[in-house]
Amino acid sequence: MKDVVSYINSHKENYVDELKDFLKIPSISTLPENKNDMLTAADFVADKLRVAGMENVEIIKTKGHPMIYADWMHAPGKPTVLIYGHYDVQPVDPIDLWDSPPFEPIIKNGNIFARGATDDKGQMFMHIKTVEAYFKTVGSLSLNVKFIIEGEEEIGSENLDEFVSKNKDKLKCDAVLISDTSLYGPGIPTLTYGLRGMCYMEVTLTGPNRDLHSGTFGGGVDNPINVLADVISKLKDNSGKIKIPGFYDDVVKLTKKERDNFKALPFSEKQYAKVLGVKELRGEKGYTTLERVWARPTLDCNGIFGGFTGEGAKTVLPSKATAKISMRLVPDQDPKKIAKLFVSYVKKIAPKSVKVEIKDLHGAHAIATSLDDKATKAAAIALAKVFGKKTVFMREGGSIPIVVSFAKKLKAAPVLMGMGLNTENLHSPNEHFNLKHFHLGILSSAYFMDEFSK
Ligand code: BES
Ligand code: MN
Ligand code: MN
Repeated sequence: MKDVVSYINSHKENYVDELKDFLKIPSISTLPENKNDMLTAADFVADKLRVAGMENVEIIKTKGHPMIYADWMHAPGKPTVLIYGHYDVQPVDPIDLWDSPPFEPIIKNGNIFARGATDDKGQMFMHIKTVEAYFKTVGSLSLNVKFIIEGEEEIGSENLDEFVSKNKDKLKCDAVLISDTSLYGPGIPTLTYGLRGMCYMEVTLTGPNRDLHSGTFGGGVDNPINVLADVISKLKDNSGKIKIPGFYDDVVKLTKKERDNFKALPFSEKQYAKVLGVKELRGEKGYTTLERVWARPTLDCNGIFGGFTGEGAKTVLPSKATAKISMRLVPDQDPKKIAKLFVSYVKKIAPKSVKVEIKDLHGAHAIATSLDDKATKAAAIALAKVFGKKTVFMREGGSIPIVVSFAKKLKAAPVLMGMGLNTENLHSPNEHFNLKHFHLGILSSAYFMDEFSK
């Protein structure tokens, strides 16, 4: 370990330079105009894995964006860890709110700023540097390692999901190591043992067959935007409960023990509100903020459009209105079942004056993993060694759709060893990644491999 650690410590600057090159590639998975950038990013990852010393590096084509596989399987009798990450990033808009261009990484106050810095390029890159440090010093790894890096996490991981089903042997492993979550706070070693799931719907209401003059026709026919607002207002009540019948049927209740564990974590509602710039926190009655965002399902409108949205005033009674609505799910809610319940409720509450079209954009199961797993224990020890503090266990409100597939199909324990911070503006303007955590993440990955191999 000594040589590995001193190699990592003395290559700090190089790692940041290489990460910069990675962050310059605008690998936005959801936009068709970035399709070629996705290929460039996949090549970049494959090259880095090859140079690091990984074997059997492959760029695997899919119906969508390619994924990258690599392995090193020369530690017979030792466990195998599968390292997962994603090279795709979110769109950059609203671009005007960025202080510097999203694909021209710069360093300010110990943070690297660029789209994808913390989610997830910076975090996945750590593990490539870790294996490289082992190969450059010891010349081998203490356990067997496989990498699977995809380019479709931000759009639901459908192709990887199919790949996992068809390649259980290829991906066979004892644990899946993932850095795509956050630390509880700066410098606090953290393992995440739960993620929320997702059910993402798009509702379009159509009223009249064309946009109308709102004076000539206003009052005579229903306005789909007004109706949509009404429908949305009926999805949740004033106490934060979701009103879709059956929505809560499969929700696993929080135990007293878990609630106590959450309460034991340092948390200030005041500070939380201040950081977000709101005067008051609101959410489901009867639950604390941490419970609300980690262990309770919720429903949010992500975007709403229709009619005239340009500057100034235009008097129009629109033909159509659309809302993108996501529901964060918890164990044991089933995204397909929730989608069905959503559709029948919305169809029931919408008046006959509008045509209702609903698309199911994507879904994911929530997950809560066991804390007793060997890999989790090894990770807790590794993190404590690197950070010099006891490891904290927490859940997260975000989703990583493929984690459930890994757990179910590969029967491998997911180890969510994220190094991000929820204040690092992931999915927002001015995304950044703390370079200290980037460095500690490389060391944590190295110590994890050492601990888990024992
Ligand atoms: N890395 C995030 C998920 C995340 C962020 C987990 C912070 C925990 C803490 C991931 O890239 C992400 O954004 N996932 C999407 C999934 C969705 C597109 C299905 C999400 O949670 O919105
Ligand atoms: Mn991510
Ligand atoms: Mn993301």
